[in-house]
Amino acid sequence: MKRNVLSALGARTQPPPISWLMQLALSRPRLISLAAGFTDNESLPVREVQKLLERILVSRSKGESALQYGSTQGDPALRRLTADYLHQLDRNPKSSNYAPDRMIISNGSQQMLYLVTEALCDTGDIVLLEDPTYFVYLGILQSRGVEARGIRMERDGLNIEQLESVLQSLKKTGDLRRVKAVYLVSYFQNPTAITTSFRKKQAALELLRRYERAAGHPIFLIEDAAYRELRFRGDDERSALAVRGAGDRVIYAGTYSKPFATGTRVGFGMLPEPLFRAVLSIKGNHDFGTSNLLQQLMTQALQTSQYQDHLRGMRRRYARKAGVMSQILQETFPPDVEWIEPDGGLYFWAKLPKHIRCGTASALFKSALASEVLYVPGELCYADDPTRKKVNHEMRISFGNASEKDIREGVRRLGSVLARAIKAR
Ligand SMILES: Cc1ncc(COP(=O)(O)O)c(C=O)c1O
Repeated sequence: MKRNVLSALGARTQPPPISWLMQLALSRPRLISLAAGFTDNESLPVREVQKLLERILVSRSKGESALQYGSTQGDPALRRLTADYLHQLDRNPKSSNYAPDRMIISNGSQQMLYLVTEALCDTGDIVLLEDPTYFVYLGILQSRGVEARGIRMERDGLNIEQLESVLQSLKKTGDLRRVKAVYLVSYFQNPTAITTSFRKKQAALELLRRYERAAGHPIFLIEDAAYRELRFRGDDERSALAVRGAGDRVIYAGTYSKPFATGTRVGFGMLPEPLFRAVLSIKGNHDFGTSNLLQQLMTQALQTSQYQDHLRGMRRRYARKAGVMSQILQETFPPDVEWIEPDGGLYFWAKLPKHIRCGTASALFKSALASEVLYVPGELCYADDPTRKKVNHEMRISFGNASEKDIREGVRRLGSVLARAIKAR
């Protein structure tokens, strides 16, 4: 039999690099993985969750409601608490953008990103995104046959001039109608640790609005704020929801995975119409609702002070681990490697001299594996954008999951591998 039984999407979808990287780490017990985006195991709130679950299961009626199906949109109490919290973080601008009835709770923010893309994009549509970006999102686009165009990053986010010139050239070629959204990982970006300034969010939204007439439809800004609360230095930037008059164009995806417990996978989206309705209907088909028990757990964590207490501890912990990584990078990485000191999140993004390739097929990646250390090759974070070549001399290294001892040892090993590679040229 010759014909493929799979759907076009089933046949097209490539295995995500994350599965391969995780498999590699699991199959080599001596390997130090600085690749995973996992959070710190010791920071996970085991005792706190035990107590919160006891509160939920304290009586028959409370327990029944937690162990029953909920609604597709999500627990009303959790939506209200989350919306109020977002409103507070954004310093309470007068706005209906934070109304709980615009919010949908999802299985991690990952599901929200998938649902939004599914509701918005057909095969052949285009999403503009940061160059580099969150590689798992690239997997969603690849799977759905959506094209991407990368926009260069500066210290405070997107290069707005380049965003404009990409929009302009798409307009010229008649392709603007295929552009549905700009996707930004706006806080301590995965992978570069860059935070987008509020000014740049405003500028991007203004620009998109100007090109809408030529596109023939709204162009949305998808703000992925997965790392927002993992700030350990400086002040929070307001989200795009706070940009005046732009609420009808902003999709805000947030999560309780990173700041509380990755295993709970409770995420959420703030959605304008017509996306809200479409995403709600599609989610109904996916799962008709995120786990009620886990939503009630998050509701309890927010209602008591557990959530905020936990965040404070988490920030201290990541500040220390980032400090350890920074110090060992300075001690052991060759002087011509550059990186940005993160103010939050889980990552350092190291730029090697241009001629040192570090992709999965490179000699350097193999030498690192032979030295039992794993990083995320930066090339995985660049979209398949036909208008430019992928960069192949950057790496993402994470201080999230590795212990301080492993951070020191892993970076030291990588430093030696790098020094050898640079010397050999
Ligand atoms: C940028 C970014 N967005 C979204 C997610 C998805 O996280 P979750 O589905 O656990 O909320 C991640 C996870 O690593 C991420 O790095």
